[in-house]
Amino acid sequence: MQDTIERIARALQRAERILIITGAGLSADSGLPTYRGLGGLYNGRTAEGLPIEAALSGPMLGRDPALCWKYLAELGRACLGARPNAAHEAIAELQRRKPGCWVLTQNIDGYHRAAGSPPERLIEIHGRLEPLYCQSCGARSAELAEHLQRPLPPRCACGGILRPPVVLFEEMLPERAVATLYEELGKGFDAVLAVGTSASFPYIVEPILRARRLGGFTAEINPGSSEISGLVDLHARARALDVLPSLLSHISGMAICNTG
Ligand code: APR
Repeated sequence: MQDTIERIARALQRAERILIITGAGLSADSGLPTYRGLGGLYNGRTAEGLPIEAALSGPMLGRDPALCWKYLAELGRACLGARPNAAHEAIAELQRRKPGCWVLTQNIDGYHRAAGSPPERLIEIHGRLEPLYCQSCGARSAELAEHLQRPLPPRCACGGILRPPVVLFEEMLPERAVATLYEELGKGFDAVLAVGTSASFPYIVEPILRARRLGGFTAEINPGSSEISGLVDLHARARALDVLPSLLSHISGMAICNTG
């Protein structure tokens, strides 16, 4: 494993433009549940006998806001009850050292921002859990934590129902995030590193395919397999928390020897 980590570190050290794609596996090391695979949120059905994807869908928020908010609140409490881990911090440190390093995250926990990743180089393709906004008048509302203390679904002063700016199932991706992603993909990335994602969506596989076409470097950090495991140059079969901090120390070590 050390050899794989050193090879990934060398490739990232050389790269100018780096895209780090992250998924639920990165926050699994903070104690949050993943969606698929062992213990995944999507494996079971809800208490109402629904697939979780139905309960957390746009149509359900419209049809039965109390039910949808029951599961949004569960996600919200889990995210508020944990915090970013050293792997999030290592990614933020890499972004500080590499101005061309971007993060494309599917996570809605807000941990990249909390760990210090620059928001202007962070693409939150599935949105975020806060700030809430009113579906009727558009007013933004107080912190999610406050609303989770009150009866659900949370309501605006105007009487409208509040919602988080997340992408629920059967909803479109945020236009600005998609535009930013494809603008940056158009400039090309020398290296793409996927961390803790099953790569279940085409817009997550696409950056890997494009980097390969441009002769760039691709790698994955995931103890399991994913849709991109057969595509990447290197696959560190390990947890993000066990790899990313040491990856950074290898890069900083190289930086010193390169200038020595
Ligand atoms: N470190 C790295 N990877 C891990 C770890 C860990 N500690 N623990 C689990 N994994 C891997 C799993 O092997 C799996 O491949 O993380 C991946 C998590 O996959 P998913 O649960 O499918 O999460 P993700 O890829 O982020 O899902 C994408 O699906 O429904 C949507 O909105 C949801 O954002 C989510 C998206």
